[in-house]
Amino acid sequence: MNEAVFTPIVAEADFPQDGKFATSVSGWNVLLTKVDGVYHAFNDRCPHAASMLSTGRIRRGHIMCPLHGAMFSLVTGVCAGGGYKDLRRFDVRIEHRHVAVAVPPTTPGMDDLAIKAV
Ligand code: FES
Repeated sequence: MNEAVFTPIVAEADFPQDGKFATSVSGWNVLLTKVDGVYHAFNDRCPHAASMLSTGRIRRGHIMCPLHGAMFSLVTGVCAGGGYKDLRRFDVRIEHRHVAVAVPPTTPGMDDLAIKAV
């Protein structure tokens, strides 16, 4: 059994005030959110048409897809209204005051990657 490998991506002290942080880990685009002091990590890709969600606005505990406006929970990744699939989640933990994320050990496929420009 393979144990998840966690990669530190941002110091807790440097996490942005707007509640979201985006980066890339081993080819995976990661959207990190913080709600009520708890971090959550998702694949930064809208399940509808592959927009990068991290460029979207945050409203009422959700991030709004910049392409067509679908809303996804910043905690669960569930699509409000259920119109699209839930966001793919990644495990998160704190290591030495840094937020660390475990992405899958495989390279992301075309169905895992977002389009860049929106
Ligand atoms: S690409 Fe996100 S709602 Fe269409």
